[in-house]
Amino acid sequence: MSQVENAVALKNGALIAFPTETVYGLGADASNEKAVARIYEVKGRPQDHPLILHIAAIEDISYWATDVSEYAMALANKYWPGPMTLIFKRSESAKDFVTGEQNTVGLRVPDHALALGLLQECKKIGVHAIAAPSANRFGHVSPTTADAVQEEISAYLAPQDLILDGGPAQVGLESTIIDCTGDAPKILRPGAITQAMIEDATGLKVSEDINSDIRVSGSLEKHYAPNAKVILDVQASEGQGFIAPADVATPPGAIRLASPANTDEYARTLYAALRDGDAQGLATIAIIQPSGDGLAIAIRDRLMRASKGR
Ligand code: TXA
Ligand code: MG
Repeated sequence: MSQVENAVALKNGALIAFPTETVYGLGADASNEKAVARIYEVKGRPQDHPLILHIAAIEDISYWATDVSEYAMALANKYWPGPMTLIFKRSESAKDFVTGEQNTVGLRVPDHALALGLLQECKKIGVHAIAAPSANRFGHVSPTTADAVQEEISAYLAPQDLILDGGPAQVGLESTIIDCTGDAPKILRPGAITQAMIEDATGLKVSEDINSDIRVSGSLEKHYAPNAKVILDVQASEGQGFIAPADVATPPGAIRLASPANTDEYARTLYAALRDGDAQGLATIAIIQPSGDGLAIAIRDRLMRASKGR
């Protein structure tokens, strides 16, 4: 189907799973209450968890948000399209059914040609945003390929719904979420847009406390998790899965699932490696975490959550 037809399908209430540079999203017309309700059903996600609204361009902020600060505009100008979600005070257009009844709304311009093409066609026919969480069942690992989306949710989709294939996600971890409702930006979820990058764009000091409790659904309960038990920074025993930087040798009998050569590759391959472990039916995956700051902080954040007991 063409992007024009995809946009029409969305307007008519279909769900469309689509690629972004971070992970695949499960999208609906953000103004269509019934379609948005189906996202929650397909994901098995609690209703009070807000969705990120994907928009075509910076100029679309004003449809969904009010009180947009100068520093937020600086961030949008510098890092959109890109792996960054900004939280604003919502406008009247952002209804309770997408914001989880919060007074704020999360917006993002994704950096992926397929996603942007779809958003632009949507805009032409009056769909101002695509509301989309990651296209996985609640609590699971986010999908970074169309095949992974298929595995996660195809059983829950309706005949009119679609899954678009845009190849493997280039970043591989969910966007940085930045609360822009205060005097200075605050990171709610770390990602590829790092604290240093935010400070660089805004000239403001950003809360350093980025691994603390966040008000979002990836908070401290188990999340971003495979079926296998995840154990961190220990050597794998025989028969266990093993993910570690390339310079760490595989312990005898362990099943190597990934050997990333650098932090970017670690982020890009992590979720597929966790899925691979599940596909092989492994009971346990031992993971040596990446060191350093920047994107490594985001990777450790997701691994910490993946390792929490249910
Ligand atoms: O990279 C991403 O952000 C991907 C792609 C598809 O864009 N999306 C994604 O969506 O990770 P989701 O729903 O799986 O995670 C979004 C997080 C949730 O934890 C949600 O609670 C939080 O963003 N969030 C959304 N709107 C919010 C708001 N107004 N205030 C606080 N947190 C919000
Ligand atoms: Mg998610």
